[in-house]
Amino acid sequence: MLLQQGHDVTVVDNLSKGHRQNVPAERLRVLDLADTQALASLLREKECDAVIHFAAFIAVGESMREPARYFRNNVCGSLSLLDAMVQANVKHLVFSSTAAVYGNPHTSPISEDFPIQAVNPYGESKVMVERLLGWFDQIHHLTSVPLRYFNASGCDPAGGLGEEHEPETHLIPLVLRAVKTGKPITVFGNDYPTPDGTCIRDYIHVNDLAQAHILALEYLINGGASESFNVGTGTGHSVLEIIRAAEEVTGKKVPYEVGPRREGDPPSLVASSKKLRERLGWAPQYPDLRTIVQHAWNFANRA
Ligand code: UFG
Repeated sequence: MLLQQGHDVTVVDNLSKGHRQNVPAERLRVLDLADTQALASLLREKECDAVIHFAAFIAVGESMREPARYFRNNVCGSLSLLDAMVQANVKHLVFSSTAAVYGNPHTSPISEDFPIQAVNPYGESKVMVERLLGWFDQIHHLTSVPLRYFNASGCDPAGGLGEEHEPETHLIPLVLRAVKTGKPITVFGNDYPTPDGTCIRDYIHVNDLAQAHILALEYLINGGASESFNVGTGTGHSVLEIIRAAEEVTGKKVPYEVGPRREGDPPSLVASSKKLRERLGWAPQYPDLRTIVQHAWNFANRA
């Protein structure tokens, strides 16, 4: 989308989770974020105006078992990048943050001024980086936009890019896998204080998420001050609603069974996206759940 909208782009990835084939070969540099000097050289060589930083581990459950790995990769990696940006005099950063910075909020929808109180090392690692960003702004005048993602989902309808995690833990790809394999998915708890008893999340199409990054980038380059923004549609859907949407899209039954709650799952996480809409003029192109599931289904059935 950056290329389509006239930006020049270099992608840095250590390919520990990323997929080489998703990026034009001439734009990819295989580098680790820990390599501050190599990053600084690259930023100088390419005369970068800004960085969008997505490189982090993302599995909440894993972060509860291996906190050191999460803090090292997510916090130390970000610090190395910030250090390199200062060395190369690059002044703007868009950062992938998360709704997990809010922990278990008691009311909904969630606005950016809700208390920050992560309840797992994954969320805490993002909180720590948001705090680093505050100091780098104050001391080095490096401005940044942390985007607090709710549930990234769907697939780029044109580019054929979608979720390819190993192992997969996210609901929509797992539901679609259950349709294909016939092996039931487990619904993690149906005794939550929600209308149908299952957890509610705000599913945001990956292209709408991507567009929020481009708006944030242009805002910073045009002199905007550091600000955090939620990225969600403002509408929540329960796990059973996702299953029903998948049945409508695929025309098949989703085999499922109800299991115990998953540790650390808040009952409901729904964004207020008012600030993003008002301040950056963002409007989601694909807010409809069926479209999100349809695009994910197209990806699951790609040739
Ligand atoms: N779920 C199931 N069964 C499954 C998988 C998920 O019932 O097999 C449920 C979960 O309990 C949850 C919902 O489906 O209620 C969504 O779960 P995901 O694992 O797809 O997503 P999460 O809401 O747990 O987490 C996502 C990101 C995190 C981020 C969080 C913030 O993966 O990185 O959103 O909202 F922190």
